[in-house]
Amino acid sequence: MTLKNIPNHLAVIMDGNGRWAKKRNLDRICGHIEGIKSLKSVIKGVIEHKIKYLTVYAFSSENWQRPSEEVDSLMQLLDEYIRLELPYLIKNKIRLNFIGNIGRIPEESKSTLLEAVKKTKNFGALNLTLALSYGSKEEILNAVSKIAEDFKEGRIDIEDINDGFFSSYLYTAGIPDPDFLIRTSGECRLSNFMLYQAAYTELYFTKTLWPDFRKKNLTAALKNYEKRVRKFGKTEI
Ligand code: FPP
Repeated sequence: MTLKNIPNHLAVIMDGNGRWAKKRNLDRICGHIEGIKSLKSVIKGVIEHKIKYLTVYAFSSENWQRPSEEVDSLMQLLDEYIRLELPYLIKNKIRLNFIGNIGRIPEESKSTLLEAVKKTKNFGALNLTLALSYGSKEEILNAVSKIAEDFKEGRIDIEDINDGFFSSYLYTAGIPDPDFLIRTSGECRLSNFMLYQAAYTELYFTKTLWPDFRKKNLTAALKNYEKRVRKFGKTEI
C-alpha cells in the first residue's frame, strides 16, 4: 500500500513487554523476546513503506536500575539480536547505528554492536538506530558541557549557537529530527526520549502492547500520520 505522506524519520518507544508477559503468567524476559519479533516485523514494514530513518528505544539510562537478571537478559538479547540479524541488515542495505552512553554495556554485546555498526556503515536504504543506555537529559547536558569546553578553548563563538549547531553536539548528530513517534502500551509520555529532537514530532499513542504491535499496526499508525497537518508553529499555508 502506498501512502501519500510518509515520515522520513520514525521513532518508536517499544513499551509493554513486561505487561504482555505478566498477562500470560510468563517471565518478563519472554515479553522482551516476543518484542524482538515485533521489532523485526516493524522493520519489514518500515522498509516496505520506504521510511529512511527508524530509531527505537531499546534500553534507557534508567533501565539499569531494573533487577540484574532482567538487565543481563536484555544485554544478552541485544547481542543475539545483532548476531542473528546482521545478514538481514547487510542483505537489505540497512545501516545500524546507536545513540546513548554505551560505556556500561557489557564488553561482548558492545563489541558485537560496534562490529555491526562498522560492517553496515556504507549502507543507507534504512538507517536503523538503537537507543541504548540512552537518556535525553544526559544527552543535552553532555552537549552543553562540550559546547562550554569548545567555547573555553576558543574553538567557537556564542553567535555560532543555533538549532543546527546544537543538534550537532547531540548523540543524534547527522540524524534528522523524528517526524513521527509511536509509543505502545497506553503510556502517554516521552520518558526521557529525544526531548530536544521531538519539539515538532507528531505523537501517536496506542494501547497495543509492544509484543502485539506488528507490521499491520504500523500501517494503521502511518495512516493516522498521513492525515496530520504539520505547521511547525506557522499557519497552514
Ligand atoms: C519496555 O517494556 C521495553 C524495554 C525496556 C526493552 C525494549 C526491548 C525490546 C523490545 C527487545 C530488545 C530489543 C533489542 C534491540 C535488544 P517494559 O519492560 O517496560 O514493559 P512494562 O512497562 O509492561 O513493564
